[in-house]
Parts: sequence; structure tokens; C-alpha cells
Amino acid sequence: MKLNQENEEVGFLLKISNVVGLSAIAVILMLGIVVFLELSGTEVSLPSLTESTTPTTAPATAPTVPTQPAETMWRAPDLASLPATPEADQIRYGRELVAHTAQYLGPEGSVLQIANGMNCQNCHLDAGTKPFGNNYSLVASTYPKFRGRSGTEEDVVKRVTDCFERSLNGEAPKPESKEMQAMVAYIKWVGQDVQKDETPNGAGLIDIEYLDRAASPELGKAVYVQKCQVCHGDNGQGMKPVGNTEYIYPPLWGDDSYNAGAGLYRVSTFARYVKANMPLGATHDSPMLTDEESWDLAAYVNSMPRPKKDLSKDWPDISKKPVDHPFGPYSDSFSEEQHKYGPYKPIIEARKK
Ligand code: HEC
Ligand code: HEC
Repeated sequence: MKLNQENEEVGFLLKISNVVGLSAIAVILMLGIVVFLELSGTEVSLPSLTESTTPTTAPATAPTVPTQPAETMWRAPDLASLPATPEADQIRYGRELVAHTAQYLGPEGSVLQIANGMNCQNCHLDAGTKPFGNNYSLVASTYPKFRGRSGTEEDVVKRVTDCFERSLNGEAPKPESKEMQAMVAYIKWVGQDVQKDETPNGAGLIDIEYLDRAASPELGKAVYVQKCQVCHGDNGQGMKPVGNTEYIYPPLWGDDSYNAGAGLYRVSTFARYVKANMPLGATHDSPMLTDEESWDLAAYVNSMPRPKKDLSKDWPDISKKPVDHPFGPYSDSFSEEQHKYGPYKPIIEARKK
């Protein structure tokens, strides 16, 4: 039965000398050229093919036809392409420090004991190379730059120091140290191919819509129990087996987590991070959380206890505070509560006036 069907198909294909057949062959040739150009490293965008011009009974020997447009996501340079030079060694060491920070600089670090036991990679996934995984694609092309939080021009050393003091709730290695220099070299290398004023697809974090209501810690708690607790623990403590220097699952609150001055403590930043990355395995094109779940989880996790930080020097110009900056004073009359959890749209509207 099956054989007969196949024979019929072959018979049909052999007979094609009509327009449909020719256009099918043309499409296959075009795709062949595109695939060849892709392999040879030339930037091409696949012409948009409509379903109707794609042959449904292509011969078995036809080149595999990609059904999606060519990959246009930003990709970090290939680590394997690094030569055997001292400069490349420095980049490799920098990557190692970003991926396994705790082993070198955590509470039981082999170089210094200056950070909380998290790895940079816990939040900058795949060592800062994952699309929408809080990657480093934009660092080389945008720093030094002015940042409202400090009210100063910041270079990459300053920005890395910030994550040590806030996200890793500790101290940073000295600017001239081997470790700081290596991390900076690595982070700049990751974004080396990005042009100034270009924002590649997949840069940083994904954008999500504001809700019309406040984000809800209560609703977030229910989602947490269902989708996060298995790894991050019933008390947000994560999982670090005795004898391990690194967490297997990093903490989300408590003494070993990021402090209240960290980027993730902003509800919008947390929501944008988890939307495209959590539970582990989620990506921007196969997310496992709705926008609402992401906002509510952010509200829940950021309503739990965590280390404090003196933030009195932050945001010297208070009118520059992001709408969801959780600490006053503000240049508007909305409460800290509304700034932290929303609804944000009324604040945005008021600022426009
Ligand atoms: C708890 C999560 C967390 C950890 C751990 C963490 N970071 Fe970050 N980092 C963030 C967030 C959030 C941002 C800001 C993202 C945003 O606002 O778009 C950020 C921003 C940065 C930036 C600036 C990126 C840009 O495009 O401007 C650099 C550089 C950076 N981090 C380096 C590091 C390094 C190095 C470490 C380890 C020493 C580290 N981070 C650890 C969460 C973290
Ligand atoms: C299967 C285990 C697993 C599940 C389930 C999971 N995570 Fe994670 N999560 C991880 C791991 C592992 C990392 C660190 C990734 C790395 O280092 O590469 C992480 C990192 C994080 C981080 C950044 C680091 C930190 O500790 O602050 C946040 C925030 C986070 N997860 C939130 C969530 C939320 C919210 C959920 C539920 C929707 C969730 N995760 C579900 C394993 C998990």
C-alpha cells in the first residue's frame, strides 16, 4: 500500500515539466544558494517564501528546506576561535570567572572571599551569551556611558563592580587585579562585533507589557510553589549540597541572595528576566510563563527578605528614577508601594504631563 503510494508520487514527479515544477526547482536552487552563503559566513536574509510556492512533494534527494527564516538572533563570538595567546588566555580566564564566580571569589573562593556565593552566570546565562538571557552583547559598544543610578559616566569596571556590590552582595576585586581585568576583557570580547548605535535582536532582556493592575505577591506565591520551588526551595534558599562551593540552584531571597540595590530587585527587571529564561530551559521563543505570571512572581520574590544596601547616593537626580524604582523620594506623588508593584501606567501618564 505504502509502496504504491510512493510509486505514484515518483510517477507524478517524473511527469512534472509544467510551471509548478519549474518554480519548485527554482525555489530549491535559491534555498541552496542561501544555505551556501550562510555556511560561507555571508549575511543574507532568506526571501519570504509563501506556502504555495513551496513544493509539498519534493523529491527525497532535495536539500533540506528550512521552514523558518534564517536565524537573525545575535550570537556571541565562538570561544573555540580564540588563539593560543596571552590575550586569549585572559579572555578564557574571564569567562571562567563569570561562569564559576563562587569557586574563585565566593565565601570559599580560591582567590578571594568577597562575594555571596552566586555566579555572574546565574543571571547572565551561558556566561552572558544567551539571547534575552541578560547577555553582554551591548557592553563593548555602549560603555563608557552615563547612568542615572550613579549620576556619573561609568566604564565597564564600574559596572562590574556594581554587580559585585549589589547582585553578589559583596565587594569587587580591585580594578587593576588580574580577575577584574580578565572579566572586563571577556565581557568586551562577547560584544566585540556589535556596532555603536546597533541593538541586535536578542540583546539584554526581553520587553514585556505593563499590566493594568498591580503585580500581586499572593498570586505570585501560588505560581512559585507550582513552578519554581522544586529547584529554588520552599524558602527561596536554592540548593548547595554540603561540600559544594557553588550553588546547583541559586537562592532567590535570604542572606545569600542579591541585595535590595540589585537590578533584579526592580519588579520589571525580574519579570523580564524570568519571562524568557525560567523555569530553567525556557527561552524567548518557548517561554513557560505568561506575562502576568512573570510580574506576579517578581512581586512575590521581591517581597521576601533579603540583604539591604545603603542606597542614599543612588539617583542623585530623583526625576530619573525608573517608574518601578522601589525607594523614594520621588519627583511625583505616587507611593513607594505603587512604584514597587504598580500599576505603572498611571505613573507613566503623569510623567508625560
Ligand atoms: C542576581 C543577578 C545578577 C548577578 C548574580 C550578576 N548580575 Fe550583572 N546584571 C544583572 C542585572 C539585572 C543587570 C541589568 C540589566 C538591565 O537593567 O537591563 C546587570 C547588568 C550587568 C552589566 C551591564 C550590562 C549592560 O548591557 O549594560 C554587566 C557588565 C554585568 N551585569 C556584569 C556582571 C558580572 C561580571 C557579574 C558577576 C561578578 C554579575 N553581573 C552578576 C543581574 C546580575
Ligand atoms: C529546573 C530547576 C529550576 C526551576 C524549576 C527554576 N529555576 Fe530559576 N534557576 C535555575 C538555575 C540552575 C539557575 C542558574 C542558571 C545558571 O547558573 O546557568 C536559575 C536562576 C534563576 C534566577 C537568577 C539567579 C538568582 O538566584 O537570583 C532567578 C531570578 C530565577 N532562577 C527565578 C526562577 C523562577 C521565578 C522560577 C519559577 C518560574 C524558576 N527560577 C524556576 C533553576 C531553576
